[in-house]
Amino acid sequence: MSFPITRHRRLRRTAGIRSLIRETMLTSNDFIYPVFVTHGENVKEEISSLPGVYHYSLDRLREEIEDIVAAGLASVLVFGIPETKDAIGSSAFANDGIVQRAIRSIKEWAPEMVVVADTCLCQFTDHGHCGVVHHDEATGTAVVDNDHSLELLVKTAISQAEAGADIIAPSNMMDGFVAAIREGLDEAGYHEVAIMSYSVKYASAFYGPFREAAHSTPQFGDRKTYQMDPANKREALREADSDVTEGADMLMVKPALAYLDVLAMLKEQFDLPVVAYNVSAEYSMVKAAAANGWLNERAIVLETLTGMKRAGADIIITYHAKDAARWLRGED
Ligand code: PBG
Ligand code: ZN
Repeated sequence: MSFPITRHRRLRRTAGIRSLIRETMLTSNDFIYPVFVTHGENVKEEISSLPGVYHYSLDRLREEIEDIVAAGLASVLVFGIPETKDAIGSSAFANDGIVQRAIRSIKEWAPEMVVVADTCLCQFTDHGHCGVVHHDEATGTAVVDNDHSLELLVKTAISQAEAGADIIAPSNMMDGFVAAIREGLDEAGYHEVAIMSYSVKYASAFYGPFREAAHSTPQFGDRKTYQMDPANKREALREADSDVTEGADMLMVKPALAYLDVLAMLKEQFDLPVVAYNVSAEYSMVKAAAANGWLNERAIVLETLTGMKRAGADIIITYHAKDAARWLRGED
């Protein structure tokens, strides 16, 4: 008998055989591209920590939407940088707020585009927290008030639905946010608007470049009393479980790369679509290394996104989406 008996290399011999047996297929249908809309006029400004990603004012946003469509993408996640901020983030739920106006415009220019709205207060509050802050007499510290924040988040979600958002993506990590938003949307008549819950969102250093882009760095403290401890996995089951019970339509894990075990677990345990958010620092690290000529950006990005799909992601939110979509079509 000759050795080795099992020859795995038979199925790796040619490109044709390799593609026959390939298990995971990356497609741009699964990508969501984040866009940053800012106040002002004639603004197209590269975000220094996110090379290749820009702030657009409303009057310049159309060229970006056209480029996204040309890249073959069909879905965007809208973030807004408002002109004014206050303690309760009232520009988040203003009918003529930056996000609401952007959603209306996108729906006008590209009616087929799936528009996802990030529902949070941190870009709109002057203190930069994801909810309203109350002073706790007992401890003498500032705390984010869960239930009061929920009321404002519900108003925000309804105003985004009214503007035409297809999917509401609450990223605030308050308890009960899915139930509150579902109820609010239903009462306002938006039964068909889906909720993509940022179910399992860790208190992560990987959001650094985003906070610079969105001007949403907390002015005091951190987000550890509402975002999850990176050390915890079983707790992710409890977060996802309550969101499912409350009526979430999709479950997100964020960040992606350092949390693929959590993503795989959610895919296994729940039957809702699972979303991976390939966050800002994951993008910046690749861009910085690529700019130094230290790696092959295209190969690294496609391998990384494939890894997220293999781990169980049905949908990937990524700043690489435009490039990746073009690479998948065989363009440079
Ligand atoms: C808002 C929000 C954040 C991100 C998405 N929505 C920042 C945060 O929670 O601090 C991060 C996205 C990224 O890093 O790409 N709550
Ligand atoms: Zn927030």
